[in-house]
Amino acid sequence: MSDWNVADLPDQSGRTVVVTGPTLGGLGHHTALELARRGARVILAGRNPAKVEETVAAIRAEVAGAQLEALHLDLASLSSVRTAAAAVAQVGPIDVLVNNAGVMGTKYSRTADGLELQMATNHFGPFLLTGLLLPQLVQSADGRVVTVSSLFHTFAGKAPLGDPREQTGRYHTWRVYGQTKLANLYLTAELDRRLRAADLPVRALAAHPGFAGTHLAANGQYGRSSGGIATILDAGVKAVSQSAEAGAWPSLMAATADLPGNSFVGPGGFRQLSGRPRTVGRSKLARNAENARRLWEISEETADLRYP
Ligand SMILES: NC(=O)c1ccc[n+]([C@@H]2O[C@H](COP(=O)([O-])OP(=O)(O)OC[C@H]3O[C@@H](n4cnc5c(N)ncnc54)[C@H](OP(=O)(O)O)[C@@H]3O)[C@@H](O)[C@H]2O)c1
Repeated sequence: MSDWNVADLPDQSGRTVVVTGPTLGGLGHHTALELARRGARVILAGRNPAKVEETVAAIRAEVAGAQLEALHLDLASLSSVRTAAAAVAQVGPIDVLVNNAGVMGTKYSRTADGLELQMATNHFGPFLLTGLLLPQLVQSADGRVVTVSSLFHTFAGKAPLGDPREQTGRYHTWRVYGQTKLANLYLTAELDRRLRAADLPVRALAAHPGFAGTHLAANGQYGRSSGGIATILDAGVKAVSQSAEAGAWPSLMAATADLPGNSFVGPGGFRQLSGRPRTVGRSKLARNAENARRLWEISEETADLRYP
């Protein structure tokens, strides 16, 4: 399927999609934009209401009559995830949840739940959100969970299977980021396996954007995407990467193409850094089913939710 083209996105009328992390100029924005263009009702779930409104306005400027709703969601807070899921409970069936939001390379810090920030935002929050929205994904009768991982999953070193509320050894921010992206692949594999075993009509897939010009690096390093050195880093990333628009294609393909559960979609170009999307492989560590099962149990305990 390396000839996948965004122009082939099927009509999305009557479908409801939740996209996390829809900040303007990021992958979530472009994922939401293309789905709205095809007629989907898109729920944009972000932690900063002003930024979400900015994206809503930008999409409406391009897509007249776009059906967009804003949802407040801070993935680094388990209670915020529960509040957001309760707020979205009345929207009815959800056809696709795109777990897109994430942070990268942040300094060591712990959330109010006692979790390391990158693992909380990139894995435990999405794990809880997915579980809480699962009944609505099942209602769709053809639900999908698309989780945005990264080539960085290959830098994890080892699986994050220790006590998530304890720090053992030195904190290596890039290795931990890699572990969160490995966790995205474990979540996808184990969720899909459990969905099959429970005979539920939902698939779990993963995507990665290669290297795309978004605010991820500047946000992680400086906590902002503009102003002084953050502007310089943002511009530097954009100069050497593919566009955020193209970075969203793997998520869009995973959300809409006829692919089996546990597929991983990434760019088909040189070293998967850019290009048209296709299904791609994953590291040997990411294929370890026992690790995926153990992380699932740790996540159930941590988020205090067992599913499916
Ligand atoms: N860009 C790349 O080359 C690349 C490569 C591999 C993987 N990825 C993955 O792609 C995904 C999207 O990143 P991006 O590149 O589009 O970067 P981005 O523009 O920085 O977008 C990240 C989004 O996540 C949101 N977010 C961060 N912390 C959150 C929290 N606690 N609760 C809710 N939302 C939160 C951000 O909101 P704020 O704007 O409010 O901070 C933003 O909307 C991430 O999962 C990232 O790991 C990106």
